[in-house]
Amino acid sequence: MAIPLLDTLRSVMQFRSFEWDPVVRRLSRCASVDDLRRVAERRLPRGCFDYIDGAAEDERSLDGNSAAFRELGFHPRVLRGVGEPRFATTILGHEASIPLICSPTGFGRIAHSQGELAVARAAARAGIPYTLSTLSTRSIEEVASVSSGSKWFQVYVWRDRGLVKEMIDRSRAAGYEALLLTVDTPVFGRRERDVRSGFSLPPKLGLETLLDGILHPGWTRDFLAAEPIVFANVVGHEVGDGTSPVALADYINTQFDPSVSWHDVEWLKSVWDGPIVLKGIQTVADAKLAADAGVDAIALSNHGGRQLDDSPAPLTLVAPVVDAVGDRVEVYCDGGVRRGSDIAKALALGAHACMIGRPYLYALAAGGERGVDLVLEWFAEGLARTLALNGAATIHELSREYVEWRHAP
Ligand code: GLV
Repeated sequence: MAIPLLDTLRSVMQFRSFEWDPVVRRLSRCASVDDLRRVAERRLPRGCFDYIDGAAEDERSLDGNSAAFRELGFHPRVLRGVGEPRFATTILGHEASIPLICSPTGFGRIAHSQGELAVARAAARAGIPYTLSTLSTRSIEEVASVSSGSKWFQVYVWRDRGLVKEMIDRSRAAGYEALLLTVDTPVFGRRERDVRSGFSLPPKLGLETLLDGILHPGWTRDFLAAEPIVFANVVGHEVGDGTSPVALADYINTQFDPSVSWHDVEWLKSVWDGPIVLKGIQTVADAKLAADAGVDAIALSNHGGRQLDDSPAPLTLVAPVVDAVGDRVEVYCDGGVRRGSDIAKALALGAHACMIGRPYLYALAAGGERGVDLVLEWFAEGLARTLALNGAATIHELSREYVEWRHAP
């Protein structure tokens, strides 16, 4: 009896060979953005994770962004001989391997010491545009020096317009192709997780944070071995460059101009002759004003739910906005995009491309630059698979006939 049992066991038992590289080991156990998020949650000190993961007030905008994707189902066609689906496109006149753009996110180095450099390099390898945040922890020039891919620079309107102009001039000199103005932040949203944790940038060290650091040794080693985190684009300016910890809400509410208006869009056009994207459009009325103002693209976005709670989920705005202005501007959908199938849904409604923020930050925290490579590969693979399973050979075949709201939005 014993011999057949052993033989049977031997025939079914297979051990994965041990992977010595801890990053490969961590990433090989992840199959989705949600998995990367869980690894990021384990690796990052609580305050850093919550700053990335959290959103405004009751976080209903954040939940609504993902819920909208769940509410939109497919109507797949079959037996259409699709072959290898094709999804390369152009974004603002430049080739992109997939209709996806890395959104600007502040303070990349709280996820990993390479911060924005890692994401810019991975985006260039993946053949998609990368947007550097004004509030980045690597400068305009540092990022340009590591990436020859498509780069955009994100602008906030500071009270000091001279500072904005200087950053725009630096972006032009460093070869950035487009400016992206974030229009949903006249004041800072109330991120209650950050209020509770007293989160500051750079993360300040106290008894609680020391303990948190000990509990997250991988992050702490990486953080301490790198040079101090600063707001890299404003180093040396009076506005404060983060050399001493500041609460983000206080910083932004004193430095950004709450009277920002359409006049600033006009002003931006007078100091920048390349493409301009307005990110944070949340109504058809404003989409029309943006098109009338002559911008090149708009990103439907509620800032990942981080500004106004109970704002519309961008996916629900795609169809009406594309119907109103899609022939005049490129329309992007930002917020809740977690899979290639989400890109397919937004495109089917008429979006030109999607934008992602948290997915690449979770990936960065989970596995550094290799994590970002992996998540960007997943988006491409997922889009290809979704096209094939819907019987669409190219993204241009996607239309509203492929999707249906389960309940009217
Ligand atoms: C900055 O733009 C943030 O959303 O925290």
